Amino acid sequence: PVERTLALIKPDATGNTNEILNRVEQEGFVVVGKIEGRVWSQQDAATFYSEHSGKAFFDTLVDFMSSGPIVQLCLEKVGAIKAWRELAGPTNSTDAKTLEPSSIRALYGTCGTKNAVHGSDSFASALREINFCFDQAGEAAAVVAP
Ligand code: CMP
Repeated sequence: PVERTLALIKPDATGNTNEILNRVEQEGFVVVGKIEGRVWSQQDAATFYSEHSGKAFFDTLVDFMSSGPIVQLCLEKVGAIKAWRELAGPTNSTDAKTLEPSSIRALYGTCGTKNAVHGSDSFASALREINFCFDQAGEAAAVVAP
């Protein structure tokens, strides 16, 4: 089915936004929502990533995700959720460089935390994360459902 998913370009990779958006469109995704330049508070990052609360990398992740502007994207495609995770590549960019060298995390990320992009891992996550990122000024209505 046609799906929508939430993609983030993280603070380490916003300098490569044009390259990443070109790749996204080459791979057949339609960008149905895009908010550039928003800077998350630590609370925003902690809420978005609450499923990782308590893990060893949580504080580092929250600091990183609130360290500078990001790009919030809602992407649409048949099977978008899995397709975007495949295009992103392995979570750890160091692993990605050997396992999937043409993936976005291999090309634009650097390590386990600074991994360039995020993608929703399920339909339920996509719904929650799209609402989180496109909740202001009626942005959600345009992007939540295909
Ligand atoms: P993301 O796909 O956005 O989801 C959780 C993020 O936590 C992940 O990308 C990385 O930026 C970060 N992270 C750091 N260490 C780990 C780890 N060991 N496992 C999973 N995620 C990690």
